[in-house]
Amino acid sequence: MDKLVIRGGCKLRGEVDIDAAKNAVLPIIAACILSGDKCEIWNAPMLRDVFVLCEALKSLCADIDIDVEKGKIIIDTSGLMNVEPDGELIRKMRASFLIMGPMISRFGKFKVSLPGGCNIGTRPIDLHLKGFRALGVDIKIGHGYVEASASRLIGARIYLDFPSVGATENIMMASVMAEGETIIENAAEEPEIEDLGKFLNSMGAKITGLGTDTIKITGVKELRGASYKPIFDRIEAGTFMIAAAITKSTIKINGIIEDHIKPITAKLAEMGVDMEMSGESLIIDAARDLKPVDIKTMPYPGFPTDMQAQMMSLLCCIKGTSVITETIFENRFMHSSELKRMGASIKIDGRSAVVEGVDRLTGCEVKATDLRAGAALILAGLIGEGCTEISDIYHIDRGYVGIEKKFKNLGANIKRIIMD
Ligand code: UD1
Repeated sequence: MDKLVIRGGCKLRGEVDIDAAKNAVLPIIAACILSGDKCEIWNAPMLRDVFVLCEALKSLCADIDIDVEKGKIIIDTSGLMNVEPDGELIRKMRASFLIMGPMISRFGKFKVSLPGGCNIGTRPIDLHLKGFRALGVDIKIGHGYVEASASRLIGARIYLDFPSVGATENIMMASVMAEGETIIENAAEEPEIEDLGKFLNSMGAKITGLGTDTIKITGVKELRGASYKPIFDRIEAGTFMIAAAITKSTIKINGIIEDHIKPITAKLAEMGVDMEMSGESLIIDAARDLKPVDIKTMPYPGFPTDMQAQMMSLLCCIKGTSVITETIFENRFMHSSELKRMGASIKIDGRSAVVEGVDRLTGCEVKATDLRAGAALILAGLIGEGCTEISDIYHIDRGYVGIEKKFKNLGANIKRIIMD
């Protein structure tokens, strides 16, 4: 398993280009199932999760061509079969459960393994299933499988107890060709959901209310193939913003949708970071001493849980006390014990973490326990005295394209050790 080795203390400079959003591309790949045509995705991030989902579709007999250099994925689902997908792939990541909605829509039945995913707490699928049932799907769960069948799908009014991103997406995809109208209330408002909706509309779907908590889907008879370029990754952008802040550097980040990063820029501004947008680029200048802040993760447009770990690394190095409250996942502080090994002062009390800023962090051997935890350790490594060696970086590769190359281009002393 590969490792990342970082020698801390370098200032960052220059520019970095942000890739397309993993969390937008994954549901879009799943949505390709809905048309029996060819779909093209441009500017797709060449990530482990993307390859795993494509393999899962291939196990359903989809024909997929990936041009890694151009970031282009062509998905032809004309020969798709309602067979059981490779369970190993499904258990590898939670997002693979997003094929359930489209498969039910296309075939009226589907059997799939219960999903796996990042180790950040129990991640039930009850809200996905509640939505499917409301559309008239019969669901059976047992022996590690979910089995769905429906003679016809009928539009319904569905209220989500919590604005789940995955459930909103899965229900949108299941209902897009249902008879009549489906209304999802208390829907998630994340930009990636809006992007999925735009992709579905470009295939011929009729979805309105995207980006709000009430999404209306008017069923259509069929969908056609489409060509689409997904949005930029706001979490990758946020990670580089924090890289600038933690190293007190000035960098330019290209590939930013200003509205999408507001929850992050608002917090960084409160801390004293200077930021200026110019078109789709952000210049971030963090030369000043920063102030501690309190953070509470919330569904969009609140502060994203996917930026909580990276923010914790930054707060560890800012004089004073900061409190982080994680409201989305119940077990998402595993990075704190790794940061403590580097000298951070963090006390966990249930869903809150009290962070006392320290003068310095020290490099040591640490382990990426999940995707964003791994990113947080890279950030801490950038200022840790001496060498930080991060293991289990396959987690990081799930969500960041060529992360060490991007940091190296910005002047960081980082290298990947390839282990046999
Ligand atoms: C998506 C993102 C992930 C992000 C998360 C929250 C993708 C591929 N992943 O994950 O990066 O961290 O949103 O912003 O887009 N829940 C239930 N029942 C359900 C579904 C969810 O109780 O049926 C709970 C989960 O356990 C969790 C919370 O709702 O506590 C949020 O989960 P959800 O919004 O569904 O996240 P994901 O779609 O899995």
